[in-house]
Amino acid sequence: MFITFEGPDGSGKTTQSRLLARWLEEEGYPVILVREPGGTAIGERIRDVLHDPAHSGMSPWTEVFLYCAARAQLVTEVIRPALAAGQAVLCDRYADSTLAYQGYGRGLDLEALRLILHLATGGLAPDLTFCLDISPEEGLARRQRGGGEWNRLDRETVDFHRRVRTGYLELAGREPQRWIVVDAARPVEAVQADLRALLKAHWTGGPIPPAL
Ligand code: TMP
Repeated sequence: MFITFEGPDGSGKTTQSRLLARWLEEEGYPVILVREPGGTAIGERIRDVLHDPAHSGMSPWTEVFLYCAARAQLVTEVIRPALAAGQAVLCDRYADSTLAYQGYGRGLDLEALRLILHLATGGLAPDLTFCLDISPEEGLARRQRGGGEWNRLDRETVDFHRRVRTGYLELAGREPQRWIVVDAARPVEAVQADLRALLKAHWTGGPIPPAL
């Protein structure tokens, strides 16, 4: 199974994906966890170029091609082989981040982006995508409190981050069979409990708990 975690900055994707990966491992499932951009030696170098605050003049399409270059490498080198070997793959951001940030956030043409994404991923789509939803204000406050890496996109306006969030919710609404939106403005444990319950339900083909 290929599971991706999406959502605005500060929504807790990294923490939640780590906890879910650990839980799956404890349950006896072979699992790998990767992050975007990065996850390969080439991808980590591209990540440095993308996130360097000194690169404030980067054009939106340069951004797209760099994210997609890192992704193409990750898909070929890590994700496809792992899936072929029967591992579950958890990915902290994937192609939907490009649609949300470069499409909805920067205003690039969504259809053109979809074509580029198709080429970069060879058409590999996730089986399930969790959208950890949070307001830009709360996400930003968390990022400031958390003291993690501060990247070039964190410097964007609150309006930019609002468009990203709206974009995610629109993407989720278009493909409800793949996306599950979770309220991420709650304590870590509560969000994690929901993710586990939702994943189990998805797995067994059971009904998704409506309250989530
Ligand atoms: P993160 O590692 O903290 O999630 O940071 C990744 C940043 O890169 C985040 O601000 C979202 C952004 N991003 C894009 O703009 N487009 C993409 O395709 C991806 C994968 C990330």
